[in-house]
Amino acid sequence: MKSPQIKTSLPGPRARQLIKLDKSFVSPSYTRVYPLVVDNAKGLWVHDVDGNVFLDFTAGIATNSTGHCHPRVVKAIKAQADRLLHMSGTDFYYTPQILLAEKLAKLAPGRTAKRVYFGNSGAEAVEAAFKLARWHTKRELNIAFFGAFHGRTMGALSLTASKTVQKKHYNPFVPGITHIPYAYCYRCAYNLTYPKCDLYCVRWVEDTLFRTTVPAEEVGAIFVEPIQGEGGYIVPPPGFHKELKKIAKKYGILYVVDEVQSGMGRTGKMFAVEHFGVQPDIMALAKGIASGLPLGAMIAKSKIMNWEAGSHASTFGGNPLSCQASMATIELLENNMMKNAAKQGDRLTNGLKKLQKAYECMGDVRGKGLMVAVELVKDRETKAPATHWRNGIIRKSFEKGLLVLGCGENSIRFSPSLSVKPGEVDTCLSIFEDALKEVAG
Ligand SMILES: Cc1ncc(COP(=O)(O)O)c(C=O)c1O
Repeated sequence: MKSPQIKTSLPGPRARQLIKLDKSFVSPSYTRVYPLVVDNAKGLWVHDVDGNVFLDFTAGIATNSTGHCHPRVVKAIKAQADRLLHMSGTDFYYTPQILLAEKLAKLAPGRTAKRVYFGNSGAEAVEAAFKLARWHTKRELNIAFFGAFHGRTMGALSLTASKTVQKKHYNPFVPGITHIPYAYCYRCAYNLTYPKCDLYCVRWVEDTLFRTTVPAEEVGAIFVEPIQGEGGYIVPPPGFHKELKKIAKKYGILYVVDEVQSGMGRTGKMFAVEHFGVQPDIMALAKGIASGLPLGAMIAKSKIMNWEAGSHASTFGGNPLSCQASMATIELLENNMMKNAAKQGDRLTNGLKKLQKAYECMGDVRGKGLMVAVELVKDRETKAPATHWRNGIIRKSFEKGLLVLGCGENSIRFSPSLSVKPGEVDTCLSIFEDALKEVAG
């Protein structure tokens, strides 16, 4: 069984040189939480520029869905690179974009006919959804959630309510957006407990919001992550999406689901919203859709995607290489990896739940499939966030050869490639426990 190998102090000598160069020339707006300089990677194993080997439970922020450099994906990209690199799908037609659109439209939940718009990122997919919702409904107001992350372009950022550092000095934003509490049951905004709450957070939208400040007939769309990602891998209770969608439908409001992080098989179903039995009107995809090549897609019911030629487009959106990578990715997900995500996700969650019994600081373990998080607290009673321990555990894991990232204020997320093997899950659990013991034990 392969294991991490840390041969130098971290960062190693070559990494130190490169980081120094980076500090001179690369934007300081990036948030590197530990000094990893990657040279190459295969499957779940990342090699840095000094020959150290790490087990990757980040998948490049939930993006290398089929593992680093899966041979089928690489082969598809290479074959396409010999035929056509770019022609711009906005002005011309080419086969990979058309075939991928057909595939995605058929994969999206529900039988209603769908159409697909292509961009290059999650933010572009959300931006397109935002514009389409406005174009179609001609309504100026929108609803989004506290804790939501939808991207960093001005429209997507206006919908985002994750961290003030992401919004500071960028005001004014797109007007007409109201943020409301998400169904974060571990820290309910209304201090209620599920199921006794009877989904008060959803009823509040109709009973309070629509009666006081936000006229329902002026709302174009509700933007929602099926499981909140950057906000802390927060899984809403059963019924949350169904009831919210019911309210949306009643008032002619579009239900726009951001599957950028939760989609493409990660939760054990192709789209996380399928766990909740809801068919979105519009869906945003990116990250895992093409195993690491830049691609965003916005899928909408055909009767909704009725904007006219010229109303939205992108030169690079849906470029041939990304489309081929995506076709190969989807094939791998459908063949076995999505099932594997459910199976290994259970193994990971059960392992973490076992650890939770022994470690008081593991306040909550939650997730679906391979979208799993541990929320760290100073005390189980008060639930005071243990952000310092969270950061320490991430750093210590890195030093021991395990790559993980944070989410929310005090959670650690586990989002490995969907190709992860049982032994790799066990190695992750064992390093995580060692790091936990050293930092917060
Ligand atoms: C749910 C969600 N939406 C949108 C985005 C933005 O994606 P990108 O960074 O590709 O623009 C992210 C990125 O983390 C995300 O998690």
